[in-house]
Amino acid sequence: MSYANSRIPSSAQVGIHEHLERCVARHVASPFRKPHAAYSVDALDQALAGWDGRAGLILDAGCGVAHSTIQIAREHPEAWVIGVDQSADRLARRKPYPEALLPRNMVLVRADLVDFWRLLVERGVRLRKHFILYPNPWPKIGHLGRRWHAHPVFPFVPRLGGELEMRTNWRVYAEEFALALGMLTGREVPWQSFEPGAPLTPFERKYRDSGQALYRVHLALGDAALDGAAEAVHASAGTQRESHR
Ligand SMILES: C[S@@+](CC[C@H](N)C(=O)[O-])C[C@H]1O[C@@H](n2cnc3c(N)ncnc32)[C@H](O)[C@@H]1O
Repeated sequence: MSYANSRIPSSAQVGIHEHLERCVARHVASPFRKPHAAYSVDALDQALAGWDGRAGLILDAGCGVAHSTIQIAREHPEAWVIGVDQSADRLARRKPYPEALLPRNMVLVRADLVDFWRLLVERGVRLRKHFILYPNPWPKIGHLGRRWHAHPVFPFVPRLGGELEMRTNWRVYAEEFALALGMLTGREVPWQSFEPGAPLTPFERKYRDSGQALYRVHLALGDAALDGAAEAVHASAGTQRESHR
């Protein structure tokens, strides 16, 4: 694929997946208990080793080559910024930034977010900001379970608090993410299209330069742990789909 010729995910699915609400409700009813991979536990220790325990924490989840992590760390010198990706190769490709020029208030770690998010919750960590930028969309109808909002780990995500921001170039992903987040929080969660100014990530730059519409979901979760997610799901089931039409 040439650079500025990136395609919007093509899918037979043009609206919210018919099984999404059932899927999210199931994940809330039976909490995810898969054992953590050892490397993710080590990664969490590594990620928190340089944190003074007081600075606000910012997580760049699925940071890829970490250009966004670097920009976020520069914009928030008072915060401790953690970039997480499962791909050692992408993390190593953080060109054109040599080690010596990286901001001191950030760390990049290789971990599986399926473990990392749960480990943060288990350690009682709360975030100030949480970015999930251009996650793999998995646009095939049969791949619903691979999208973050339909994954059993998703109920842990809002429990980390802070300001959560997800960006995508697939409108359906934004709609679904907002719906699932709304079910977990019992709140009205908007999604909107936006124009990126200076692109935060390579994917954002590529999509913008290809003339694509971009979408985001932003929610200020605050500090509160959302242990009442089950009640929120029961209260909101069936009403969320209406409110997003
Ligand atoms: C489409 S790329 C976007 C990268 C970056 N945020 C950007 O916008 O340029 C999605 C990233 O999520 C990472 N990823 C996917 N599943 C993951 C998981 N379970 N744990 C950690 N990272 C994951 C991939 O390795 C990849 O770098």
